[in-house]
Amino acid sequence: MATKEVKDVGLIQEFGSLIHVPNGLSEKDRSEIVQRLNRNAANLQLLYMRYKKDHWTIRGRHFHSLHLFFEELANEVLAQTDVIAERVVGLGGVVVSMPDEIAEHATIGQLPAGIHDTKTMLQRELQALETMEVEIREDMERADELGDPTTNDLLNAVLDVLEKQTWMINSQQADLD
Ligand SMILES: [Fe+2]
Repeated sequence: MATKEVKDVGLIQEFGSLIHVPNGLSEKDRSEIVQRLNRNAANLQLLYMRYKKDHWTIRGRHFHSLHLFFEELANEVLAQTDVIAERVVGLGGVVVSMPDEIAEHATIGQLPAGIHDTKTMLQRELQALETMEVEIREDMERADELGDPTTNDLLNAVLDVLEKQTWMINSQQADLD
């Protein structure tokens, strides 16, 4: 399928480039942090889309509670996405934001088309969350080494939300056969 493209005029900063930000962090360190944050921005935006799909396609005896549950998870993720995206820009970078870029930079993968059973749905989200949690812990360690406690703090808040979601999804699937 052909992708409709908006004509690229008026560009003032290319993706992957960094503008100068006088905050005492070197360009090299900001560049690494921006790359790590962009992976998180892509994953968070994709996770939001996945939860919305779950919200729209959930079927079965737990429909009502899980329909509302996924909406709640999506909204929590959306709030965290904004914080991470703005940190990328604050460090002089360009944030991942369009679907093609998100697919390219995300490590959690897109959900297959169609409607799937509840157990599969929950297990897929648990896997995605674990992937993100492992990566975020590494990113936090690196941010610490590079002397960027702000990024560390923001990622810690994201990790807190994701770990809480792991607990809740894991509890939801406990009695599904
Ligand atoms: Fe809705």
